[in-house]
Order: sequence, then structure tokens, then C-alpha cells
Amino acid sequence: MTFGPIPRHLLPDTASVVNKRLQIGGLDVIELAESFGTPLFVYDEEHLRRRCREAVAAFGDGVAYATKAFLSQAMARLAWEEGMSLDVATGGELHVALEAGVPASRLILHGNNKSVIELEAALTAGVGRVVVDSFDELDRIEQVVAAGFTAPKVLVRVNPGVEAHTHEYLQTGVADSKFGFGVASGDAAAAMARARTSPAMNLVGVHAHIGSQVFTVDSFRKAIGALAPFIAEHDLDEISVGGGLGVAYVTGETAPTITEWADTIKSACRSHGIEAKIMAEPGRAIVASAAVTLYTVGTVKDIDSIRTYLAVDGGMSDNPRPVLYDSGYEAFLPRAVNAERSRIVRVVGKHCEAGDVIVSEAAVPGDIAVGDILCTPVTGAYGHSMGSNYNMVLRPPVVFVDKGRARLVVRRETYDDLTRRDV
Ligand code: LLP
Repeated sequence: MTFGPIPRHLLPDTASVVNKRLQIGGLDVIELAESFGTPLFVYDEEHLRRRCREAVAAFGDGVAYATKAFLSQAMARLAWEEGMSLDVATGGELHVALEAGVPASRLILHGNNKSVIELEAALTAGVGRVVVDSFDELDRIEQVVAAGFTAPKVLVRVNPGVEAHTHEYLQTGVADSKFGFGVASGDAAAAMARARTSPAMNLVGVHAHIGSQVFTVDSFRKAIGALAPFIAEHDLDEISVGGGLGVAYVTGETAPTITEWADTIKSACRSHGIEAKIMAEPGRAIVASAAVTLYTVGTVKDIDSIRTYLAVDGGMSDNPRPVLYDSGYEAFLPRAVNAERSRIVRVVGKHCEAGDVIVSEAAVPGDIAVGDILCTPVTGAYGHSMGSNYNMVLRPPVVFVDKGRARLVVRRETYDDLTRRDV
């Protein structure tokens, strides 16, 4: 069986084919691999900016980029420059966003277990919103504010009891979840009443995040239905539907656009008579297909009548998603973008682990060989951000490309970095 070339919609917006080879942002990616080495994350800056602008046009200035999907100072600045707020879920994400120069008022602090130190850092900086996740956090905010901090604006995170069609680990809106206050249990109503009356916080809205990599926008409609009574009862000004819009990773998949997603959400709010400001927190939909990963093929191992293993110079340390969620990816050769892909191989990494698989059944051109640069598209979300140092493999650099220029925004880790924290 032969598979066609890599589908265009899985590549970044500015991708083009020149002399059979892949260019992004007007630059030949094989030359980028030569200049910066592999593995390498290449982000199409124009693509990132377009998705941010689309989100702002669709939702208005209440839309926040979920930094967990991919964060560096350059990315934080880019999202903010394009008019987005930023969702930060830990003290670390908060720190990077502030270091990048994003005003604290544009930051929304998340997290199901915010520490006193994280809350103090957020209130010292003056974050725009805190999304409250638990009764213990309500206690902690009161404690921190009593110690002399200004009362924050808060949204209460409600767990709407909606089952989003996605991987079990990515579902967050079901009753059995560590996130938010359940509706069915009455916790959401109790939390809302408490936040409303507490002098340590100013309740402005309600929040729900039902899960990630969600294709059926109707799930969001259901979540809004669950939030509507709270908005009416407390006359709240803001409703945040979280993030979660899915993206296409492999041939045959298509996903709603950010605009389509926003339209569904806006129409659901209208039909429930909600006039509150609509906020959202897309992460993956902004960054996933903006980037590709480039690897060098190092070993091709044919096991007669079983399979061919193709080992590259990265692996689960730069893309843990296949191991964690059994996520599918495509692979292709940037030297032959339009080539038919007639050979099925298992693309694996260099980690000491049999499960270190990047693409379980990858269709690649028949003449693939050691030394080739191999490209996996749609790796802009939750690859770099969930990367690790397993086996002391160095984390790859990140390059932003735009209009014929390459800009290194995260350098490659060095062996010295590996011992820097040892004491
Ligand atoms: N808002 C909240 C409160 C979230 O928890 C998340 C993601 C987002 C927004 C952004 O969701 P997105 O638009 O990116 O789907 N590591 C997993 C994804 C975990 C998402 C966690 N929360 C993966 O690689 O698929």
C-alpha cells in the first residue's frame, strides 16, 4: 500500500515546496537543520501570529493563550503583542510571562493546587484574574490577602460534568476530576456563594475547561448550559470556556477553526441569554500546527518479516505524546515533500526504553536512508513544553522563522546545563 504525500493542512501556513524541498517562512528546512542541528523545533511565526489574531478577532481581548502548550519568552511576547491575554498555570509559567515583559494585568492564574508562594507572587505582580479551583485555595487566598495583599478578581472554576470526546487523560470536565468545583455535588454553588461574600476576593466570573483535543464543539455548548444558572444567579460579568479545541495531527483528520469554535460558543451563550463577556483559553489550536520537528535518521534496522525500525536523534524527550496518549503523528522527508510514501516504518527515538516511539506506523518514501532529515509536523503543542532530559538527552532548540529570517528563541541545551544544578 502506498500513501500520498504529507497533506498540506498538516504543515504550517507559510510552508511551500521549492525544488521538491520544504520551506517554512521562506527558509529551506534542511538548511535550518544544518545551521542549528537536530533535533530542532521550527515554528512558523506568521502562522502563530495569524492564529492569535484569529482568536482575538473571534473572542475579543478576553481570549488568553494557554502557555502550557508551548512557552518561551518569545512566545509569551508574541501572543501578547497580538492582543491575547495569557493563561499561566504555575508559578513557573507566571515567572516566564512576567520576565518576557507581559503586563501582569494580562495574566490569568490557573492551577488546582496553587501554593501560598504562587498566590503571593501573583498578587504581588497584580495578575488580572485568579481562577479559583478548590475550597483550600479559597482559604489560602483569604490568608494571603489578610497578610496585606490586594483582593484579586476571581473566576470560580466549575466542573460542568460534561464528557468531552477525547483521551481519558485529557478529560477534565467529568465529575470524577481533580479540577474545579462539581455542579452535581453542590460544591460549585457553595464556592460561588463563598467567593461572592468573601472580602478577600472580587468574584467576576465562572470558568470551565472540559478537556483538550476536543473535536466536537457541541461539548462546549453543554458546558455553557451548565454554567448559565450561575451567571444568572450571581449576575456575573465574565464566562470563560477554557481551551480544548482539537487540531488535526494525521491524514484524514480535520478540526474546526478557532472562528468556528468561537461561533458555537457565542451562539450557545446567546441561546442561554448570557450577556457576560466571553473568554477562552486556546493553547493547542494556536501553536500545534505552527511547528515541525526535524530529526536526523541515524539507524535503519530491518527485522525480516517483522518490521523496520527507523531511529532518530530525539524521541520521547522532545515528544512524549505518543507514549503518554498513544497520539498519532505523520512523518515525511523535507527533501521530497511531494513524494509518495510507500514504506511503513516505526520511527523510534534514542532513549533506553522500548516504548520510545514517535510514530508507530509511519509512511515514508521508499528511498529513506541514514543521514536523511526526517520531519514530523504538528509538533508545536505539548512537545517542547512536556519535554524532558531523560537519559540526559539534550533538549532541542526552538527557532522562529519568518520572511526569510531565522531567529533562535531557545538555544539547545548543553552538557554543562546537565550538571548546572548539581550541588
Ligand atoms: N485552559 C485550561 C484550564 C487548561 O487546563 C488547558 C489545558 C487549556 C486551557 C488549554 O487547552 P488546549 O487548548 O491546549 O487544549 N498534554 C496534553 C494536553 C493537556 C492540556 C491541559 N490543559 C496533550 O499533549 O495533549
